[in-house]
Amino acid sequence: MRRSTPLAGLALLLSATLATAQTPARDDAVYRGLGGQQGIQKIVATFIPLVLADPVIRDSFEDFDMEQVAKRLADQFCEVSGGPCTYTGKYRDKTMDGVGTVRDMVTVHQDLKITDAQFNALAEDLQLAMARNQVPNGVANRLIGRLAPMRSMIVTARAGGARPDLGKLLATGGVSQLEGAAGGGLTPWALIGGYGTRDSWGANAHYTWVRTQDYALGSGGVAVGLADRLELSLAEQTFAGSLAPLDRLRLRQQIVGLKLRVAGDAVYGQDSLMPQLAIGVLYKRDKGVGGLGALGVTDVRQLGARDDHGYDYYVAATKLLLEQSLLLNGTVRATRANQMGLLGFGGDRGDSMRLMPEVSLAWLADRKLVLGVEYRRKPHNLSVDNEKAYYDAFVAWFPNKHVSVTAAYAVLGDITVFNPVRQRGPYLSLQAGF
Ligand code: HEM
Repeated sequence: MRRSTPLAGLALLLSATLATAQTPARDDAVYRGLGGQQGIQKIVATFIPLVLADPVIRDSFEDFDMEQVAKRLADQFCEVSGGPCTYTGKYRDKTMDGVGTVRDMVTVHQDLKITDAQFNALAEDLQLAMARNQVPNGVANRLIGRLAPMRSMIVTARAGGARPDLGKLLATGGVSQLEGAAGGGLTPWALIGGYGTRDSWGANAHYTWVRTQDYALGSGGVAVGLADRLELSLAEQTFAGSLAPLDRLRLRQQIVGLKLRVAGDAVYGQDSLMPQLAIGVLYKRDKGVGGLGALGVTDVRQLGARDDHGYDYYVAATKLLLEQSLLLNGTVRATRANQMGLLGFGGDRGDSMRLMPEVSLAWLADRKLVLGVEYRRKPHNLSVDNEKAYYDAFVAWFPNKHVSVTAAYAVLGDITVFNPVRQRGPYLSLQAGF
């Protein structure tokens, strides 16, 4: 008996410590960031009229006691944000005070036939209500991040119809990268372009202009996103030299892209580390070399490339961490392209498909503003071109779901040994769509 007591005592002490350790003090930072009870009341008071004015969702609330809903929402936001509240979900109308079953998000919404577009519309109204109450963007993202996983409990219906539903959250279709796929500026992400939810489609057109000391790169194209699952893109790149002896150099290539989202959801998957995953292929074909006719060069193969057309294959993993207001993307590309393909495919230094890493890190500074950096490694197949990695630092602005503007400072490395100067300069991209 005696021997075990201290041990039992120790075990007890240990488990008590563990218990307290396991249930860390309630993190009420989001609750305090929302402004506590008063702040939440104000947010809900702004939110409810937005919901009732929102053509996408207002009909769903028609027959309900909105005072009741407002009170319950405030309880829930307080609890979810770490505040001193418990959402009971007890349904109570004025005549039946204090009685009724405890309800969860499934039972509350099961008969309402809610779609993804409606779920996102409500989330955007909440974002707007928080913005109008000067809630810091980081705090707002954290609350949205804690409600997003409820989508699996709340959304029970699919919407039909050919009309684009513009149902995805702002900025979650990415921008158009240099080869026309949705992503950052330099690299494709696992996001599907456009604002169509899984029940719809979206599309956009882009033009991107990059100007370095000695070259100008242009990329224009269109992309369609189907059911937030499949993306088709078409793009054309033009490349022009401005420094002798390459001042007349003109390169052009056309790119057809296909991307399939295979797993995960960057927005709703906030309660797991699983990223959104997509696989993609880009078919690229050169359209000849201009401006080197005097040297008898009209084709990239005369510069050492093995082919004037080729495929890039990639896998992209994109994770949106709303709790940290961050987006992380990693892409692995199998390629033998020289300067993205503008200088052909393969060459005298190498001709095999090589796996190249590409990463992007972005900070969601505001609902409409994203800042980030990207790195893209590339193979070095041609001895006439001391090919290096691409980098950029970018800011993307999404005033609404029809337009986005991306400005960046891009470093494209050396381009051809005739001009061993690291090329860098401004990058500007305009995207329009739905
Ligand atoms: C993040 C998304 C959402 C959250 C966190 C949420 C949360 C809630 C909460 C806490 C209540 C009060 C339930 C109660 O009385 O106990 C509620 C009720 C309700 N919600 Fe949602 N909701 C969401 C999305 C939606 C959407 C997208 C719609 C419709 C388009 C919707 C329609 C309703 C309606 C009509 C009620 C009243 C139900 C009743 O009183 O029986 N909700 N919701």
